[in-house]
Amino acid sequence: MGKPLARLHAEHDITNQSDNYAFSQIAERLLSRRRVLQGMGLSAAAAALPTLASANANIKATGVRAKTLGFKSVPFSTEDAVIVPEGYTARAFYKWGDAVGIAGNMPAFKTDASNSSDEQAVQAGMHHDGMAFFSLPFGSQKSNRGLLAMNHEYVDNGLLFTDGTANWSADKVRKSQNAMGISVIEVRKHNGEWQVVRPSQFARRITPHTLMALTGPAAGHTQMQTADDPRGLYVRGTMQNCANGKTPWGTYLTCEENWSDIFVRPSGNMTDNEKRYGIGKSEDGYLWSQFDTRFNTDNTPNEPNRFGWVVEIDPFDPESIPKKHTSLGRFKHEGAEMIITPSNQVAVYMGDDQRFEYIYKFVSKDKYKPNDRAHNMKLLSEGTLYVARFNDDGTGEWLPLVHGQNGLTAENGFADQGEVLIKTRQAADVLGATKMDRPEWISADPFVKGSLYCTLTNNNQRGAEGKPDVDAANPRKDNRFGHIIRWLEQDGDGAKTRFSWDILVLAGNKMSTKKNHQGNIKGDDFGSPDGLAFDYRGVLWVQTDVSASTINIKDYAGMGNNQMLATIPETGEFRRFLTAPNGAEVTGIAFTPDNKTLFINIQHPGEPATGDSDPANPLAVSMWPDGPNGGRPRAATVVITKDDGGVIGS
Ligand code: FEO
Ligand code: CA
Ligand code: CA
Ligand code: CA
Repeated sequence: MGKPLARLHAEHDITNQSDNYAFSQIAERLLSRRRVLQGMGLSAAAAALPTLASANANIKATGVRAKTLGFKSVPFSTEDAVIVPEGYTARAFYKWGDAVGIAGNMPAFKTDASNSSDEQAVQAGMHHDGMAFFSLPFGSQKSNRGLLAMNHEYVDNGLLFTDGTANWSADKVRKSQNAMGISVIEVRKHNGEWQVVRPSQFARRITPHTLMALTGPAAGHTQMQTADDPRGLYVRGTMQNCANGKTPWGTYLTCEENWSDIFVRPSGNMTDNEKRYGIGKSEDGYLWSQFDTRFNTDNTPNEPNRFGWVVEIDPFDPESIPKKHTSLGRFKHEGAEMIITPSNQVAVYMGDDQRFEYIYKFVSKDKYKPNDRAHNMKLLSEGTLYVARFNDDGTGEWLPLVHGQNGLTAENGFADQGEVLIKTRQAADVLGATKMDRPEWISADPFVKGSLYCTLTNNNQRGAEGKPDVDAANPRKDNRFGHIIRWLEQDGDGAKTRFSWDILVLAGNKMSTKKNHQGNIKGDDFGSPDGLAFDYRGVLWVQTDVSASTINIKDYAGMGNNQMLATIPETGEFRRFLTAPNGAEVTGIAFTPDNKTLFINIQHPGEPATGDSDPANPLAVSMWPDGPNGGRPRAATVVITKDDGGVIGS
């Protein structure tokens, strides 16, 4: 470890490997070297993690749940700043364009966005989203040093290039691609202040060109095979990584959400499968297909099947090959929240974030073994995927997506289990699952076994003509503010297939003249809940993603910028903890185990109400975080601490 990271990075970046077989050959070579290293016990992550006895796989609940929120609420804000309560400090670091920390390759950010595509590949990507903290050393519960793995969800070409999309080229496509993916950075608290460690042996950027291996029933499937990868076993990269998960064996789960926005079918001959996932004749402004033909599905019809998965990354080993786990289904994955069941299987809860899409869970076939990391790293390769039906009487069922059962047969278009997974949405349609109001994050209560909460961000088409009407789980027509639903697995057991559910809160604006939009929030108002996570004390944190076209206007008039709030389920009171800069969404939640440091992400500060930013006037909406001389707004991680060194939220 520690030596040739620049070289390794270049080796894993398969951008320039364009002939058909070089791609698989590199994969095989890297994999066999991995096997040798693991056999020799040289893997950085060979040690075991301690057992975590808790209802949440990653949060070691100790003592009793916090009874009260100790901070003073912050008001709605339209200030171009991150505002936190009195007694707290918030500071931006690891901004888009900052070096990730690879030895010998740490280019500085250029405020006119003139960094090259190669430089972008070793710098923070754009639009930080989901994030997890892993204590260092590996397996410890230390709170002063660790790794942050985080997603860079998408790009704003108006900010990414000095001249925006003018003079569009293959190199611009490359830079745009290199601004997406994942960062792994090392962070430590030094003289009371958190810093990025540079260089770090762990530093890594993963992009849409990083080699990945497929696992599960769809790996090797004929519908996964391309000219580039004739056996359907390896994929070039990951993209549109939204929210995340974390496993108790110390890996990061990144979730591919709006990947269909990048593909294009210029002939207009979209297949039913492409239509179901939203691939169209034109794409959503990324322009990659103009110079990278794998995003043109007239050329590469199976390439989209290789996206829409949950990817597992070992952040402790920058040489590791990320795995796309097809057992967890293919859709617009938001996040992946894991619990350990009473029988020691793992259950992973996942939302498909689009209007009228579903909530899923995966239950592993094999059992989690606290002291066998190599075994645990195979758990997500085999198991059963279920989709949720919420009955109107407050009960619910998990319906298995298993080939041959309940109409998932060849006659209905599912030749085998691989095809069930590639066409997860269509399979869920057949089973009669409940169409939800855009499922975003899911979080497991660390104090109640089998208790899960999910944000349903909004759905302004609920009840509209020709669209599904309300049901008990999605009870409002024109649901502009969203709600939070929760369920309790039968006997608290994530491996069981029945549950009971209720609605925690209907978000809203008490100032609205429309009763339907007022909500039933006790405490501070919010709308469009998205990020959601319990901390170590059982406090539930909620982050909002009101779109830039709606912030502080229309139904959201008077509510200011996006925000983060806290609640304790027993009291049901929501209290506003943070407000965001102009145009930004608040996302990403990672606490250190002592609950004294909170990392969040500010995504897309400066986003205009429509489209990308204006390259001629990049600071038009926001100057956060660097002010007028900073060149452009930059997504960034924000570290939040309490000035008295105390516990966040106390
Ligand atoms: Fe990328 Fe559903 O948020
Ligand atoms: Ca989100
Ligand atoms: Ca959202
Ligand atoms: Ca968003």
